[in-house]
Parts: sequence; structure tokens; C-alpha cells
Amino acid sequence: MLTLLAADPEAQERVGRELALVTPAQAIIYLHGDLGAGKTTLARGFLKGLGYEGAVKSPTYTLLEPYELGERAVYHFDLYRLADPGELEYLGLRDLLQSEAVLLFEWPEQGKGELPPADLALFIEMQGEGRRLRLQPGSERGRGIIQRLNRRITCGSCKTPKSPLP
Ligand SMILES: Nc1ncnc2c1ncn2[C@@H]1O[C@H](COP(=O)(O)OP(=O)(O)OP(=O)(O)O)[C@@H](O)[C@H]1O
Ligand SMILES: [Mg+2]
Repeated sequence: MLTLLAADPEAQERVGRELALVTPAQAIIYLHGDLGAGKTTLARGFLKGLGYEGAVKSPTYTLLEPYELGERAVYHFDLYRLADPGELEYLGLRDLLQSEAVLLFEWPEQGKGELPPADLALFIEMQGEGRRLRLQPGSERGRGIIQRLNRRITCGSCKTPKSPLP
């Protein structure tokens, strides 16, 4: 379990960007947190980290926004308005799970029973004006992500430059 603090939306995006840089091409990531916790903001940073330069819309109504980023693919889900976990089938989830892609899920609770387990679960909570982010691995892949992220953030004497996370 890794805990990070993000004092403002920019820092939240930065965490997303750093996370993208240590996430392999295929991974399932859950973004837990109340309304307005900063899940979409983190996803926006993640996409920017992979070079996406367009606007990142919240998939509140579409439920799913796909992104093709050169070699990489990211599918950003927001299941808040999913009426029933069975509806996930109509979003083509089964095929997406077979493909080499990162799947980001806001409101994964809404897909209970139909979603595959996460490699990594983020729990975002209010902390003063900012947010506290707890990262919990769900697989060996997730443990690798956290290790690499932790190294990037905390290792001052690493060869890679220390990233400007708070
Ligand atoms: N670390 C942070 N500190 C302070 N404000 C933040 C932080 N992260 C995001 N915010 C702000 O919180 C608001 C809600 O963010 P966002 O839309 O990302 O939340 P969400 O979790 O996706 O909400 P929803 O459940 O409605 O989809 C935005 O105004 C955003 O700028
Ligand atoms: Mg959102």
C-alpha cells in the first residue's frame, strides 16, 4: 500500500501522469472515491502521461471513452450511471479484456460481479483542500506498478530525475 498526497488538481494530474509512466500496456485500474474526489482528474493526467493532448471528457453519460495513443490504448470507464452490471456486456467489455489496453474504472462498485479484479485499486479521499490517494495492489502486476511509482517519487539519488510530486 502506497499513500500519496495531492494538494491541488495539478498535483492530482501529476500523480496520474507518473502512474501512466510506470503502468504496462495491459492493466486494470480501479479509481475509488466519492463524487468529486478527483478520479477523472487523475485519469486526465494518466492520458496526458501517455502523450494525449486533446480534452479528456468525463464519460459520465457515455460510460466509456476510448483512447488510441500510438501503440497504447486506454479505455476510461465511468460506471456511475450503469443501471445494472450486466450492461457492461453491451460496452464490449469482454473484447476489451482480451486486448492489450489499460482499463481505468471510475465507480467500479457499480460493476460488481462483472468486472475483473483490479491490478491496482486507488482510493481517493478528501484531505483538507487536497486529496489523499492510497494505492493498493491486486496482483503481481499491480505490485510492480507501485514499486516503480514509489521509486520514481521517493528515490532522490536514482538515475531518473526525481519527479516533482508533493
Ligand atoms: N488533489 C486535488 N485537490 C483539490 N482539488 C482537486 C484535486 N483533484 C481534483 N480536484 C478537483 O475536484 C473536482 C472534482 O474532480 P473530478 O471531476 O476529477 O472528480 P471525480 O472523482 O471524477 O467525480 P465524479 O464522481 O463526479 O466523476 C474538480 O474541480 C477538480 O479540479
Ligand atoms: Mg469523474
